[in-house]
Amino acid sequence: MENFTFVSPTEFVFGRGVEEEVGQKLADRGAHRVLLHYGGRSAEESGLLDRIRRSLTNASLEFVEVGGVRPNPEITLIREAVEIGKAQGVDWVLAVGGGSVIDSAKAIANGIPLEEDVWELFETKRPNKEVLPIAVVLTIPAAGSEASKNTVISNDALGRKTGYGSDYQRPKLAFLNPELTFTLPPFQTAAGLTDMFCHLLERFFDDMGAVPVTDNLNLSLMKTVRSEAPRVLADPDNYDARANIMWAGMLCHQGLAGVGRHEDWATHALEHELSALDPAITHGAGLAVMFPAWMEYVFDENPARFAFYGQEIFGLAPTGDVRADALSAIDETRAFFASLGMPTSLGELGVEEDDIEKMLPTLKQNKGDVFGSFKKLTADDARAIYRLALGY
Ligand code: NZQ
Ligand code: ZN
Repeated sequence: MENFTFVSPTEFVFGRGVEEEVGQKLADRGAHRVLLHYGGRSAEESGLLDRIRRSLTNASLEFVEVGGVRPNPEITLIREAVEIGKAQGVDWVLAVGGGSVIDSAKAIANGIPLEEDVWELFETKRPNKEVLPIAVVLTIPAAGSEASKNTVISNDALGRKTGYGSDYQRPKLAFLNPELTFTLPPFQTAAGLTDMFCHLLERFFDDMGAVPVTDNLNLSLMKTVRSEAPRVLADPDNYDARANIMWAGMLCHQGLAGVGRHEDWATHALEHELSALDPAITHGAGLAVMFPAWMEYVFDENPARFAFYGQEIFGLAPTGDVRADALSAIDETRAFFASLGMPTSLGELGVEEDDIEKMLPTLKQNKGDVFGSFKKLTADDARAIYRLALGY
């Protein structure tokens, strides 16, 4: 097991109606003026935002609002919100939404105390300790940003989508009410399930041997996501299925499922280029295409790890041919994502062969010449994996 530091400062408030506690919890933590941040329409239409506004008012908190975060959040709105936050003297940022809103809120919370443009953090990756505290009301289990140390932001002018990681931007408060996720369209539920499963795959497949305490936790989460997925898609108002998925989505990405391991993250890097190329591409849908392609390309580095995964997660019986067992596990992975209604080829995402060369320069800017852990990948490898992903 490798050395590690694991920081998880988030207080979780979980269950029906917990969004009513937002104002009081923020007041208890010393908040005075809150920047309320949200997405396109869903939180307004469901009445959630009005409940949050009431909760803040009842706790005598002042707040300013910046809404309109798009999926694959963009730096322009973040810059505007930073200016508003500076001018208004806000001391907390409250995100109401999913990964996109939370990531945008994290960038804003970094940007308000900063003198330089917040995009500089995404370029230099330099640590920033002066971050406003962040609270979250989660509306979609997927990205795990409600407790993770990462934010991923697009810069359309530069054609980039890139991440920034820091324990200082982990949310301090997260409100998780599974009932808020009943309104999710099936496609968003499925994309979220795919994303959280892939957060486990990224941690499970690296260049190390077994780390049983971490791996068994990881496998248990994979089994949960796999078994709850059909339940939640068949019965979207099933509270228990929604609750299991919501808590799993957090556990899949707050870090515990990978501690002591190197982790890989090549596939997320390949997917982020797709979402940068076309912001209409949903992160989970891009992963559903790229992960099986990455697996096929790299599995020969350690077929036994894939065979073991196939036995544990899909109940595959060993055939005595470890390579064949590994390939069966990859087929099962693709079939699982397809069973959720996710795409299986780049063509279904509107990406064509000519697009591959457009993504490689920004991939290099974001990840350098060599990336990944299970197999060290170059630009030529990335091209080959994208080509595999065109082919199904
Ligand atoms: O904007 P609204 O109208 O709210 O609609 C959203 C959006 O269109 C909708 N939605 C959310 N909650 C809803 C709802 N619709 C109905 N009912 C509800 N309860 O869902 C759509 C997608 O929302 P989004 O926030 O984009 O989804 P997700 O949570 O999957 O976040 C994706 C973003 O997170 C990044 C991705 O790259 C992507 O930009 N990631 C962030 C990570 C992190 N910070 O640690 C890690 C991940 O690997 C990922 O890269
Ligand atoms: Zn992800």
